[in-house]
Amino acid sequence: MQHRAEKVVLVMVGLPARGKSFLARKVCRYLRWLGHDARVFNVGTYRRERVGQHQPASFFDPGNSSGNQARQRVALEALEDALRWLRADGQVAIYDATNSTRERRRMLEELCQRDGIPVLFIESVCDDPAIIENNIRETKLMSPDYAGVGMDDALKDFRQRIAHYAKAYEPVEDARQSFVKVLDGGRQVVVNRVDGPLRARVVALLMNTRLTRRTLWLTRHGQSLYNQRGRLGGDSELSHQGEDYGRALATHFATPPEGFEVWTSTLKRSMQTGSFLGLPTTEWRVLDEIDAGACDGMTYEEVARRMPDVYAARKADKLRFRFPQGESYLDVIRRIEPLVLELERQTTPTLIIGHQAVLRTLYAYLIGDPVEHCPHLAFPLHTLIELSPNAYGCDEKRFPLTRAIEERHSMPPG
Ligand code: SIN
Repeated sequence: MQHRAEKVVLVMVGLPARGKSFLARKVCRYLRWLGHDARVFNVGTYRRERVGQHQPASFFDPGNSSGNQARQRVALEALEDALRWLRADGQVAIYDATNSTRERRRMLEELCQRDGIPVLFIESVCDDPAIIENNIRETKLMSPDYAGVGMDDALKDFRQRIAHYAKAYEPVEDARQSFVKVLDGGRQVVVNRVDGPLRARVVALLMNTRLTRRTLWLTRHGQSLYNQRGRLGGDSELSHQGEDYGRALATHFATPPEGFEVWTSTLKRSMQTGSFLGLPTTEWRVLDEIDAGACDGMTYEEVARRMPDVYAARKADKLRFRFPQGESYLDVIRRIEPLVLELERQTTPTLIIGHQAVLRTLYAYLIGDPVEHCPHLAFPLHTLIELSPNAYGCDEKRFPLTRAIEERHSMPPG
C-alpha cells in the first residue's frame, strides 16, 4: 500500500487514567494494519528511563519546579525523537502524554510546525467514576511506577498524582486547532478541523471505539467439499466432517453468552456451519474468502503446472501477490476495514465463521501482529479461537473441536 504522503503527529491529551494509552495503542495498531508506519512515543517511558520509575505524587505537582523541569525535559526529548523519526521515514508519531495545559500544547504544535508536520490533538475526557476506577485498577496499578508497592499505597499515590494534574488541566477548546475529543469512552465524539485522509481514518476509528471489553470467537467454516479435494475458492457445500464441526460448534455454544451474535460470510460453507447453532446470523459479504480470480477451482498443483509464473509470484510474496483477476491479502485488509470498525463499535460477544485468508487478516488486527505475518498465521480447520481483549492486547484460547468429529468418522458403519 502507498500512503507515504501524509505525515502527522497525533498528540494525546487527558488526565491520567482516561484511557489515553489504550487509545494511542489502538490507533497505532489500526494504522499499521492499514499499511502505515505508525509508532507510539510514550513520555512516561522516557520519564521512567531518565528520572526513575518511582516518583512520588509530589513530582507531578505543578508547583514543584524541579519536577516541572524534569517533566518538560523528558517531554521535549520524546518529541525530538518523534520528529527525528518522522524526518527519516516515519509517518505517524503518536505522542502519548497528558499534555494537559494550553502552553504545553502550543509548544508541541510550534515545534511540529517548524518541521511542516501537522498536529491532531486527541483528547480523552472522562467523568464516569466507574470507567476511571476501572482504568486505575486495570492499567496504572500494573505500571512499573508501582512495581513492588502495595495496592492501597499505590492507589493513594496515584489518586494524588491525578489531583495534581487536575489542578492545571485545561481542556482542548482552541477552535483554530485540529482536534478530536472523545467523551466518556466514546459516548460523544467532537471533531474540529480534521484534514487529510489518514486523519479522517483515525477519526473514524475513534468514533467507533468503545472501552467495553467483550469476547470474540473466530473460526473457519467446517471442511467443505473443495477443501477435501484441495481446490481453491468456489462455493461448495460442507463435507460430512464439516457438518460434524457445525454440530461440535453448536455443542460448544449450547449456552451462549448474553447478547451473543453469529456472523458468517455469504458463502455456503460458512452459512451452513453457522446454521447448526440454530441462532439468528448476520451474513457479511466482506467476510467472503479471498477471491482466487483465474485460479478459482484449481488445486495448487494445477496452478503450478498451468500458471508457473503465478505460482512463483505467490510463493515469493504471499502478502502482496494478487491472484489474476482476483485479490491479494492487502486487498482483503482494505475490504474488511468496515467490518473492523463495526467490531470496534459493537460490544456484544460475537462468533465469526469465516475463511482462512480473511480470518488471518482480521486476527492480525485483533492481536496486533504485523501484516507481513498474515499469510503465514496458523488457522487450522475445525479449531475455535477465543479472543478476550484487555488493556494491553488480547488473551487467546484455542479449542480444537476435532475429537467428536474423529470419533464419529472412525466408527464402523452401522
Ligand atoms: C509520566 O511521566 O508518567 C507522564 C508525563 C505526562 O504525561 O505528563
